[in-house]
Amino acid sequence: MIPFLPPNPASPSVRPVLLAPMAGFTDAAMRRVSHAFGAALTYTEMVNATGLLRASDKTWHLLETLPGEGPVVAHLYGSEPEAMAAAAAAVWRTGRFVAIDINAGCPVRKIIANGCGSALMPRPGLIGRIVAAMRAASPLPVTVKTRVGLAPDRVLIHEIVSAVEEAGGAALALHARFASQMHSGAVALDLLAAVKQRARIPIIGNGGIRSAADAVRMVRETGVDAVMVGRAAMGNPWLFGAIADALAAPEDAPPPPRPRPDVAEIRAVLSDHLTAARQLQIQIRANHRLPSRALDPEAAVAITFRCHLFRYLSGLAGAAQFRGHLCDYTNTVEILSAVDACLEREAQARATRTSTHIP
Ligand SMILES: Cc1cc2nc3c(=O)[nH]c(=O)nc-3n(C[C@H](O)[C@H](O)[C@H](O)COP(=O)(O)O)c2cc1C
Repeated sequence: MIPFLPPNPASPSVRPVLLAPMAGFTDAAMRRVSHAFGAALTYTEMVNATGLLRASDKTWHLLETLPGEGPVVAHLYGSEPEAMAAAAAAVWRTGRFVAIDINAGCPVRKIIANGCGSALMPRPGLIGRIVAAMRAASPLPVTVKTRVGLAPDRVLIHEIVSAVEEAGGAALALHARFASQMHSGAVALDLLAAVKQRARIPIIGNGGIRSAADAVRMVRETGVDAVMVGRAAMGNPWLFGAIADALAAPEDAPPPPRPRPDVAEIRAVLSDHLTAARQLQIQIRANHRLPSRALDPEAAVAITFRCHLFRYLSGLAGAAQFRGHLCDYTNTVEILSAVDACLEREAQARATRTSTHIP
């Protein structure tokens, strides 16, 4: 068990399911919805440690939290032990987080150009020094999220795990792809299994979980201590419960059936998420000095929530029409009325399917 990680809310005997850090997505609103549906632990968006030290409002607003979020990990990037340590102390002083995670896997050019993210991977000694410095600066557990290597001919994960263990890291989340793959392609479950077998710290498995069956497969083939879901949780918080149910089912039983959420439930969850997103924007403006060109909360939500809307409604009967107008909505009232029109079409489509169904 991961010391700072509460058990799976569905059942203490089931491995916990975590929400992965995703820049631009995993703000306090998405984290709160995910937690309500069973995510045992969630991560902030990626936060620049140096930006925190410069006391930049543009950086600090990423660490805003909302009531009811459950345990949250602050996810930082940086490459200098002293700066990461000072940032860890500042994060700890907020009292909002249960752990601090180091981004040692992001392959995006802007991040690696500064020696951060996956640029840390060939330097396990430096990763260890960062972990040790952060541990010395704050009592919070320090974890690392990384990948299996830079490319198939550069597997680096075993050296990284050893360095994190020696430095006293509390856990390691492993996106079982290579940095060269960015976010797609095969997930190296064999390497994940090898890492888990050797590791002395808890290993959190991540990458390619799109369904409950994928999570079960990852756990059975690798034995990881927890699973972490990224993209598949966007617009689908129900997935956390589905995974918990499937992990709790006996090995030889088929996964328990999970009916699609009904239209009223999709509406209620989407609306809760939207309300939280609006609340967050208001809170950010109350607590931080944003540039004068920053949008008002309604306009900001209309933009930042588009990607979530797209996911919640994807595959529903009215979604194509809704998508065509996604950029037209400028406030939450317009968004909800368009959502209602879309869900109405979906309800009609479902009613037609039911009435024409011949058993
Ligand atoms: C939009 C987006 C933003 C991401 N941002 C981060 C990030 O800030 N830090 C990080 O470690 N990983 C980040 N990731 C990677 C995810 O945490 C996760 O490792 C990856 O998506 C694989 O998991 P999945 O297949 O379940 O999506 C991001 C992924 C996406 C799609």
